[in-house]
Amino acid sequence: MSVLPFKLSGFYPVHLLTFLTLIVFSCDRSKPASPQAKLRFESIIPNPVSTSMSGNMFTLTDDTRIVAGAGNGVDQVAKFLAGKLRPATGFELPVLNEESSGKDAVILSLADDKELGEEGYELVVSDDQIKITANSAVGLFWGAQTLRLLLPDEIEEKKVVANTAWEVATGTIRDYPRFEWRGSMLDVARHFFGVEDIKHFIDLISLYKINILHLHLSDDQGWRIEIKSWPDLTEIGGRTQVGGGDGGYYTQEQYAEIVGYAARHFITVVPEIDMPGHINAALVSYKELNPGPSINREPASARPDRPEAGEVYTGTEVGFSTLDVKKEVTFRFINDVLRELAAITPGPYLHIGGDEAAVTKKADYIAFVNRFKDIVKANGKKMIGWEEIAQGDLDSTITVQHWHSQQYARMAADKGARLIFSPAEKVYLDMQYDSTTKLGLHWAAYIEVDSSYMWDPATRVPGVDASLILGVEAPLWSETLVTMNDIEFLLFPRLPGVAETGWSPREKRDWETYKARLANQSRRWNIMGINFYKSPKVPWAY
Ligand code: ACM
Repeated sequence: MSVLPFKLSGFYPVHLLTFLTLIVFSCDRSKPASPQAKLRFESIIPNPVSTSMSGNMFTLTDDTRIVAGAGNGVDQVAKFLAGKLRPATGFELPVLNEESSGKDAVILSLADDKELGEEGYELVVSDDQIKITANSAVGLFWGAQTLRLLLPDEIEEKKVVANTAWEVATGTIRDYPRFEWRGSMLDVARHFFGVEDIKHFIDLISLYKINILHLHLSDDQGWRIEIKSWPDLTEIGGRTQVGGGDGGYYTQEQYAEIVGYAARHFITVVPEIDMPGHINAALVSYKELNPGPSINREPASARPDRPEAGEVYTGTEVGFSTLDVKKEVTFRFINDVLRELAAITPGPYLHIGGDEAAVTKKADYIAFVNRFKDIVKANGKKMIGWEEIAQGDLDSTITVQHWHSQQYARMAADKGARLIFSPAEKVYLDMQYDSTTKLGLHWAAYIEVDSSYMWDPATRVPGVDASLILGVEAPLWSETLVTMNDIEFLLFPRLPGVAETGWSPREKRDWETYKARLANQSRRWNIMGINFYKSPKVPWAY
């Protein structure tokens, strides 16, 4: 098709004028991409499935509108995006529901594009508009998060930044995740973190397309979720934390607030109540839950760092507490806790812990796992447990979280369970970077940024069929973490690498190119006020 407004054989001056006007106009609109805009396009984390730049730039201006097409949740994503872009630009960025495919617009619309799947998106940046399409609102949301990374770092400022050209390199990105489970776990039991901290945590993980927030809500040191039928769990068991300071807990209303905030970021909350071990906070709260003398419990005199039955615990030992499988009150307790938790958790999963039950007899442990399974199912949820639950009678509805033992991971796979990969010496983000790191522990390993990145779920445990791998998750245990600053220091810069391990195709993951992309995030993190570890492994841009 000819784009010329005249036939070469029939040359009219009026057509020439139109032609020249068009050329001048289009030259006006098109601006070659700046090196910085190109660099941002090439530095996206997680690395998209495919990217191609076309050489020009789109500029966000005071005239730009955000257009939300029809469909479930599209408006919500458009409003989220506008909310992220307004503070720094100072632009109005009205969210409109028009059918137009106009200029000066960021257009979000639903499509039918099988390759993109549930969570994928296509982002097309042209000279005069940006179009994000996806099969569902969640795909649009991840596309919007990518757009944030394409804009200048100053877009993260909370106040108006004058004299910044809000430029995005033109081109096309097609993107969808490798794994459906890209998780981050926060231990709020060893040290408690309040609702505002959790919301900030969600803001951070969401930028890198993490879609699961696993909350470790109970442990020996603290019980952090209100259970109305057993109020002393929080009244007594939630009172303190590691080191003996004030603990805390979420009321059910506060938990609902967290779940709602997560849902607006397309993050599913997975609540964990750790049983039958790691249960001292519950034993302290209700004396009748304590095991009888038949349970092998070392006397406190033998281990002064461990509590007597019925004492609060503020240390960091593990493996000394257990529920008693022989007591019916135990199962009344478990039934009530899981029923209340299921009722306030819209996501499909309940995590029952199951790790390090060192003083639970093996036969009792297996009996526990099998009963947990039925109770979780009766509450309409799917059970997840740490890898030790592989010893129970598993089936394909159950998910096992691998953290340490390849043998348990294989056992779970052989029973048809699905697996989440959280290998401690790679993605336990409370592990120190090196021997000079002040925060964190190192019982699994020192984990530098490169080591945390260089592994793959598909080859981690030989003999596990790839079809059983649900995804990856980075736990953050909080024995040594007291403030949000502490959390940020251990999350960054490793968390974006875990996000990429979960999202990007295997062939798009490579340390040499990743570290260059990672280096280009630091200026944004400085603007966001993130306290990150300036690893010597990364050639930081700033
Ligand atoms: C664990 O680290 N005990 C799951």
